[in-house]
Amino acid sequence: MRYLITGGAGFIGSHVCDALLADGHAVYVLDDESTGSRSNLQHLFSNRELRFIAGSIADDAVLSRLVGTVHQVIHLAAAVGVKYILENPLQSILTNVVGTEKVLQACKAFEKPLFLASTSEVYGLQTHAPLRESDYSVIGATSVSRWSYACSKALDEFMALAFHHQGAFPVTIARFFNTVGPRQSPAYGMVMPRLVDQALHNEPMTVYGDGSQTRTFTHVKDCVAAVMGLISHPEAAGEVYNVGGTEEVSILNLAKRVKMITGSRSEIRLIPYADVYNHNFEDMPRRVPDISKLEQAVHFTPKYRLDEIIADVVTDRQRWLKDNES
Ligand SMILES: NC(=O)c1ccc[n+]([C@@H]2O[C@H](COP(=O)([O-])OP(=O)(O)OC[C@H]3O[C@@H](n4cnc5c(N)ncnc54)[C@H](O)[C@@H]3O)[C@@H](O)[C@H]2O)c1
Repeated sequence: MRYLITGGAGFIGSHVCDALLADGHAVYVLDDESTGSRSNLQHLFSNRELRFIAGSIADDAVLSRLVGTVHQVIHLAAAVGVKYILENPLQSILTNVVGTEKVLQACKAFEKPLFLASTSEVYGLQTHAPLRESDYSVIGATSVSRWSYACSKALDEFMALAFHHQGAFPVTIARFFNTVGPRQSPAYGMVMPRLVDQALHNEPMTVYGDGSQTRTFTHVKDCVAAVMGLISHPEAAGEVYNVGGTEEVSILNLAKRVKMITGSRSEIRLIPYADVYNHNFEDMPRRVPDISKLEQAVHFTPKYRLDEIIADVVTDRQRWLKDNES
């Protein structure tokens, strides 16, 4: 099969490329390298089944040309990362809403099935755990810019499901929960690579708020296994799935585990949110997925425990720092 991966030069996208090419498929990657980089695909460039196209999902002509020639589209391109969203609020909304609409229109024109990457952020301030796909979104005020990401991704889900229900083309949606692993950049506000870099430099490890907020973390290889399962499972069409890990950890305890695994001399420092993101910021206290729907559909269980995930990120960041800091 031939796939188009929008955002395929990003963190998750590059690992999806690895998996599809390893399975003998052909892959077109469309990426504007705004937060990703073709260097994430460097190791694959000798594979003749990979084509990298530098461009944007905002470009109807490019989308049309590519969607018309593939069997399926995996839409990962998005404005991502709390820091990036807060620094680029308007462009982020346009990329995630208008850009996604263009992808959907191209899929409609050529009747191509679509896999859409959504996010646990759509649950917003919901605190009960575990979160089921049918749970309500509790989104904060529009004056708090952070919620625009949740809203834009929720709108993507609504649009995609509307196309699906009108019979235009089949759509499968996955809500990723904090996916981490090799090739994730710390530059856009992702907590794990940032804490690891601080620990490796023996600098203060900064935990925002009081550190009691909890998350689960998914190894990117587990995430990709779920994606691969869902794209080859026709019954998943029209459905939304949580994709995440189950080991709940507070961010303060995450920092302690990173410090222990790296053997760092860093102090762990609590920083008020207002000092990092100004006063216009809210965080969710808890986010834990119920993954039973995914387990039933594609027999998914996360293979990587948190300490293994941290160890993989440490190895990757050590290599990156060695190559890029001298
Ligand atoms: N990593 C996570 O924890 C996580 C959690 C929830 C959802 N997601 C979703 O997964 C997807 C992939 O995220 P990621 O973590 O790999 O981030 P990423 O930033 O590494 O990947 C996104 C990619 O999209 C590209 N892109 C952005 N705008 C584009 C445009 N207009 N045209 C073409 N390419 C464009 C970027 O350059 C980048 O390569 C996103 O849709 C994101 O919302 C990720």
